[in-house]
Amino acid sequence: MAALPLISPSILASDFSRLGEEMRAVEAAGADWIHLDIMDGHFVPNITFGPPVVRSLRPLTDAVFDVHLMITPADPFIAEFAEAGADIITVHAEAGPHLHRSLQTIRNLGKKAGVALNPSTHENAIAYMLDMIDLVLVMSVNPGFGGQTFIPESIDKVARIKAMIGARPIHIEVDGGVTPETAPGLIAAGADVLVAGSAVFKGGSAAYAANIAAIRGDRS
Ligand code: DX5
Ligand code: ZN
Repeated sequence: MAALPLISPSILASDFSRLGEEMRAVEAAGADWIHLDIMDGHFVPNITFGPPVVRSLRPLTDAVFDVHLMITPADPFIAEFAEAGADIITVHAEAGPHLHRSLQTIRNLGKKAGVALNPSTHENAIAYMLDMIDLVLVMSVNPGFGGQTFIPESIDKVARIKAMIGARPIHIEVDGGVTPETAPGLIAAGADVLVAGSAVFKGGSAAYAANIAAIRGDRS
């Protein structure tokens, strides 16, 4: 049986007027990491928040900050997100022509380096980067918005990436439309970190623990 995945709730789906409280509530409810979606209205058709928000959340928790940069260019902002408190910084393979340089920049700052792949991007995009990455983020929706429908082809892609990374210590994270229904196929295919926004934050804070347990597949 596949191991239980880590759960990284996306605070994009939280009540932004109570962001710190919401983050602490999902942490108390069993979240492993906190997923922070950074959007620029250019790489994706939506705008969220930037380094000042990451910086102000940082003192409130020791949880891993899993920062997903949906911005282009990304390189000029990497150091600022590192300084703001990111632990993992994930850039999109599609965000610029110099992925190798972006990954070097992240690792030189002492942070874990991730690469995100849009649904239409082939996993070959990371074939020569495998020794430079700590995480692959498979987008299972088109980035930009929470609450979208899961793209089922993502499961095959996870399986291919799992085969590609072999014994390397690289996380496979999936983001978009992850629910208790879509999670089992992803876990079976090799995903070990699941991002979820709507499926975690629905029903108010009293429901968060059950929501997280249901996605994780923990029925105990
Ligand atoms: C989408 C973001 C996701 C999003 C997931 O562009 O990267 O992290 O918040 O939301 P759900 O889980 O609602 O699909
Ligand atoms: Zn994300």
